[in-house]
Amino acid sequence: MTSLATTLKESWTLVEEHQDKVAQYFYARIFLSDPRLRDLFPLHLDATRARLLGAIVTAVQTIEDPERFDEYLTFLGRDHRKFRIESVHFGLVGQALIDAMRAFAGERWSPVYEQAWQDAYRMMARKMLAAAQDETTPPYWHAEIIKHERRSRDIAVFTCRMMQPFGYRAGQYVSIESDRHPRVWRVYSMANAPRTDNTLDFHVRAVGAGWLSGALVRRAQVGDMLRIAAPMGSMAVDPRSTRDIVCVAGGTGLAPIKAIVDELSRTNRTRWVHLFFGARDREDLYDLDDLMGLTERCPWLTVTPVVSNDPTFDGEHGTVADVMAGYGPWKHHDVFVSGSPAMVRATLRRLAEIRVPSVRIKYDSFGDQ
Ligand SMILES: Cc1cc2nc3c(=O)[nH]c(=O)nc-3n(C[C@H](O)[C@H](O)[C@H](O)COP(=O)(O)OP(=O)(O)OC[C@H]3O[C@@H](n4cnc5c(N)ncnc54)[C@H](O)[C@@H]3O)c2cc1C
Ligand code: HEM
Repeated sequence: MTSLATTLKESWTLVEEHQDKVAQYFYARIFLSDPRLRDLFPLHLDATRARLLGAIVTAVQTIEDPERFDEYLTFLGRDHRKFRIESVHFGLVGQALIDAMRAFAGERWSPVYEQAWQDAYRMMARKMLAAAQDETTPPYWHAEIIKHERRSRDIAVFTCRMMQPFGYRAGQYVSIESDRHPRVWRVYSMANAPRTDNTLDFHVRAVGAGWLSGALVRRAQVGDMLRIAAPMGSMAVDPRSTRDIVCVAGGTGLAPIKAIVDELSRTNRTRWVHLFFGARDREDLYDLDDLMGLTERCPWLTVTPVVSNDPTFDGEHGTVADVMAGYGPWKHHDVFVSGSPAMVRATLRRLAEIRVPSVRIKYDSFGDQ
């Protein structure tokens, strides 16, 4: 008998090449079925048009791995509370999904495929709704920006104060929404370990035509309010490990690494930590002064800045992955990596080449791998 996962994958191949059109149709069906649903989505759907559809398809495809499927949907259910959706919306979105697939699949679409998608979607919706109902924390927290510094043309470091108590672990990230772009949620990593005054630091780089990053870097001001959803991510220090640590950060990928070093600065006495901080040029090493200050307070910390494109820089030149590898061996270290997808990919490749076991590597990539 064909498994549900195989039937879902097989039927997805019928529409895969028309993904953009399927997404357009899908959103049109959602908004036609209840025009008020338009207000739940960002004003401009262009950059993220395929986000919800793509996400549902990815979720469906994890169905073969029940543990991952459960964990992912529990997280999504809790997280979707920030979108202010109601249980009745699930039925409308599910129907729009199936209508869109049927419209583009052609003659090979069959009642078996339709039933498979209905069953899978219903299963996901049920898990998401149950997780949302069981959750006792707020859907999001309110925070006020209390300090905002432009550190380079494209990079800002800012601090906000949470209005309600907020727990997280150093190395985690949160989803943020600003009044300047309502309903545009993007994730950013905290750059400090939890503090008693309930403040969080963020390091943000404005990317190309990016919606939220541009606003957070160029227009955000002290006094602006943000909404911040529950913390996510598992890039945390294992307190039971006694291994020395190597950290590799590219650009604002420094944020979660700095939080980890901040946490270690309160507890660590025995583990050597070597932090490689890579950027294009000296200006983009936007937090180097702070890091050097930390090395004075923490004798176990070494910081090596690396630039890839600045002949005037008095220090290491090249990619941060290559320079890090040259300082090895790191076979017996715990390793943390964070930065753009390209930087993370290159670093993981170099770590594999110098035989660092993958179980000791934790990483966050600022986008799809
Ligand atoms: C786990 C995680 C943690 C993150 N932490 C941070 C952080 O601490 N600091 C930080 O600055 N960013 C971080 N990011 C990236 C952040 O979530 C956003 O993706 C980024 O700020 C762009 O959002 P935007 O709304 O400005 O751009 P969007 O409106 O989403 O994108 C607009 C356009 O820019 C392109 N684009 C998006 N991202 C990039 C990019 N990185 N480089 C080049 N082009 C891009 C898109 O393809 C699109 O064409 C993190 C991402 C992840 C997944
Ligand atoms: C099984 C059902 C669903 C799954 C698996 C799912 C999954 C996802 C995922 C993974 C994202 C992207 C993550 C993010 O931006 O934080 C997303 C975004 C979103 N989802 Fe869902 N979702 C489901 C149902 C719904 C329903 C019923 C609604 C209500 C209308 C909804 C509204 C949204 C909105 C508004 C976004 C943000 C879109 C954007 O930023 O462009 N989702 N969904």
